[in-house]
Amino acid sequence: MFKMKELNTNIQYATTPSEEGKAARVSIISSSETYSLRLEVLWQHKNSLEECKLDIDDMSTTFHVGVFKDNEIVAIGTFLQQQNEKFDAKNQYRLRAMATSPKVRGENFGKQVIDFALEELKNRKVDLLWCDARKVALGFYEKMGFNILGDFYEIPIIGKHKLMYKRI
Ligand SMILES: CC(C)(COP(=O)(O)OP(=O)(O)OC[C@H]1O[C@@H](n2cnc3c(N)ncnc32)[C@H](O)[C@@H]1OP(=O)(O)O)[C@@H](O)C(=O)NCCC(=O)NCCS
Repeated sequence: MFKMKELNTNIQYATTPSEEGKAARVSIISSSETYSLRLEVLWQHKNSLEECKLDIDDMSTTFHVGVFKDNEIVAIGTFLQQQNEKFDAKNQYRLRAMATSPKVRGENFGKQVIDFALEELKNRKVDLLWCDARKVALGFYEKMGFNILGDFYEIPIIGKHKLMYKRI
């Protein structure tokens, strides 16, 4: 378990011992810090880091979480304010572009992204987090306490997804 040090928007980080005993760090990051992992892990069909920018990246309500191991970014997630009409919750956020470097999968870095974001979302009085979950990631989100709503649907180029959500 990591220890949250601060959760206001000025200083946001937490530390946890990584497997080698060196400190891993989780924090709010800038949108541009997400691009390299987005390209490597999520959107290999794109040709450049610039193409990995999302139109919602720099909206005032959007935030990005990153985990660093030995000063290298190893896991990311982007959280944006977006209502989904399938849910009745008043203040919803959507998770997009969640990824962990293939070098460090299964070391709980993805979990650290989600745990850190959930604290931030609680501070923002968000009551539901949802995402389009890739088929390969359904088990991860289930482990994180997300539920599935409905059947598979296809997102062009990427593949099969299910709508998943977690009440906060
Ligand atoms: C899905 C992904 C982000 C998980 O990241 P990760 O850092 O490897 O996950 P963690 O190590 O934090 O895993 C947390 C828990 O979920 C489990 N888990 C992780 N991925 C899983 C999967 N695909 N299926 C089932 N369980 C999974 C872990 O075993 C761990 O369980 P434990 O607490 O019982 O040990 C990562 O595999 C990834 O980047 N995949 C490719 C991109 C992708 O599909 N992103 C999601 C887009 S919707």
